[in-house]
Amino acid sequence: MNRSRDDKVGTRHPRGQGKSPKRRQYAPPSSQEQRDKSSSLAVRHGKRALATQRDFSDRFLIQFNSGLGELVERSLAIDLGPARIDYRDGSALVIRLETSPDKVASLPYVRNTFVVLGEVPEDNPARAADRAAKTFDTFLSAPKSMMTIPHFRVMAQHAGQLVSIPAPSRARLEQAITRIDGGMVQARGSGREYWLIGRRNSESTILAMKIPKAKTKRKPAAGEIAPELAALLARASRPASHDVVLDPFAGTGSLLRARAALPHSQLIANDLHRTISHPEASIRLLRQDGRELSAIKDGSIDAVITDPPWGEFDEIDEPMDLFVDHSVATIRRVLHPYHGRAVLMIARQIERIWVASLESHELEVTSITGILVNGHPASVITAHPHSSR
Ligand SMILES: C[S@@+](CC[C@H](N)C(=O)[O-])C[C@H]1O[C@@H](n2cnc3c(N)ncnc32)[C@H](O)[C@@H]1O
Repeated sequence: MNRSRDDKVGTRHPRGQGKSPKRRQYAPPSSQEQRDKSSSLAVRHGKRALATQRDFSDRFLIQFNSGLGELVERSLAIDLGPARIDYRDGSALVIRLETSPDKVASLPYVRNTFVVLGEVPEDNPARAADRAAKTFDTFLSAPKSMMTIPHFRVMAQHAGQLVSIPAPSRARLEQAITRIDGGMVQARGSGREYWLIGRRNSESTILAMKIPKAKTKRKPAAGEIAPELAALLARASRPASHDVVLDPFAGTGSLLRARAALPHSQLIANDLHRTISHPEASIRLLRQDGRELSAIKDGSIDAVITDPPWGEFDEIDEPMDLFVDHSVATIRRVLHPYHGRAVLMIARQIERIWVASLESHELEVTSITGILVNGHPASVITAHPHSSR
C-alpha cells in the first residue's frame, strides 16, 4: 500500500541554484514571418531584438491548494506524463517538463502557473530584484505567446505571500526588462506579470512569468467540493473510455462533473436527499439509499468515486460503523470484480472504520493519501476488489 500523509518540504533543490542559465532558444522560428512576429514588440519600441523566443518551456512553478501536493503530482503524471520535480512544498511544485505553458495553466487543479525564466542566489526581494536586474539578459526569454502584450509589471511573493519590492530595486529590474524585451511598465491592468518568487527552505529566488488562467464563471453551491479537488479525485479513478462511473453519495454532483471531462461511457449520480446541481453533463440521476442501490446491477460499475457523509454535517440514521459497512458492502457488490476500483474521500477521523470495512469486504486498499479540505483533515482512499488488477 502506498501510504503518505505529510507534506514534503523542499527535499530537492533546483538545478544550477545560484547560477543563471545562458539565455537560450528552445523553438527557433521556422519562417521569416515568425521571426518578424517574434521581434515585432522590440522593434515597435525601438529596442534591441529579443535574444530568444519560444512557445514551449521546460520549467514551471505551479501553485495549488494547500495539502493536495501528492494528488497533484499523481494527476500531473496522468495529464502531462512523467516530469522531474525540482522542488515541492505543501502548495507548490517546480517541475521540469517540455510542454506548452497554456497546457499547464489549463489544468483544472492548478491555481497559478509560472514559467521559470531563471533563478538568483538571494532570498531577500530587494537583493533578488537587484541581482535579477544585473543578470536579466542571461535568463530565458518569456513564452512567445506572452510577448504580444506590450505592458508588464513586476510582483514578488515569498512562501505564497505577496511581498513588496523597495522602489529603487523594482525600478532597476523594470529598466532591465524594458531594455531586453522592449515592454513598457504598467502597474495595473492585464499586462505580462514578471514575478520574483521566494520559497520555503530555499535561499534562492525564482524569476518567472505568470501564465493567465481562464476564470471559471460558476459559483460553487453550498457543501460542493471545490472544482480543483474534484478534478484530482476524478483522476485518481484512473479514467478509461469504457468506464461506467458511479457516485453513490453525489450531493451537488461535483465529482461526476469533474469526471465528465475525462474518458468515460456513463456517469451515474445517486443521492437520497439532494438533487445534482448544474446537470449539464449527461449524468443519469438516481434517488436511492446509497447503502442499497437496488437499481444498480451487481458488477456493473467500473469506478466508484465518492465523498460519503462525514458524520459531522450530514445526518445519518445509524451508527457510523454500520453506515460505513453497509455502504462498503454495496460498493463491493456493484463494482466489476476484475477492473472495478473505488476512490473515497472521507473524514480522517473515521479512516480506520473505512479501511477495516473495505478489507473485510475483500476490497484491497491500494493507497491512503492525507489531504486538507477547507482546513479539515481528510483521507483519499483508493481500493479495488481482490480479484481486480
Ligand atoms: C459529503 S456529501 C457529498 C457532497 C458532494 N461530494 C458535493 O460536492 O456536493 C454526502 C451526501 O450524501 C448524501 N446521503 C446521506 N445519506 C445518504 C444515503 N443513505 N444514501 C444516499 N445519499 C446519502 C447526502 O445527501 C449528501 O449530499
